[in-house]
Amino acid sequence: MRVSVIRKAHFNAAHRLYRPDWSEERNREVFGLCSNPNFHGHNYELEVCVTGEVDEETGMVINLKDLKDIIYEEVERPFDHKNLNLDVEEFKDLIPTSEHFCYVIWQRLRKVLPSKFDLQVRLYETPRNFFEYPPRT
Ligand code: NI
Repeated sequence: MRVSVIRKAHFNAAHRLYRPDWSEERNREVFGLCSNPNFHGHNYELEVCVTGEVDEETGMVINLKDLKDIIYEEVERPFDHKNLNLDVEEFKDLIPTSEHFCYVIWQRLRKVLPSKFDLQVRLYETPRNFFEYPPRT
């Protein structure tokens, strides 16, 4: 039997959506308030969904303590209270939109999560705007 196990996490980070090859005007037009030159913050909520077989001995898919530790190491520690543009290697040449951010988070978690598990992440930039990787079909 396969079950999905979901763990929530919370962190906040600052960013600016901006293309240096565009004018200030065009950046403002496309990215709006998210292009504010002095950065701004978001309270991100993350849902990490791990799907796999329920182990016959433990009755568990994954130990939630292990999942909690992985999320802390791969997401909260590197991103919480950080400026995504300035502090995070992945966003050196990548605009820190939530589309990119949820993919970056998925990649980090995928690297350390055993391959027998399926992995989905959902990232809330605001309570009403959220992003998912892999995409829904
Ligand atoms: Ni923003």
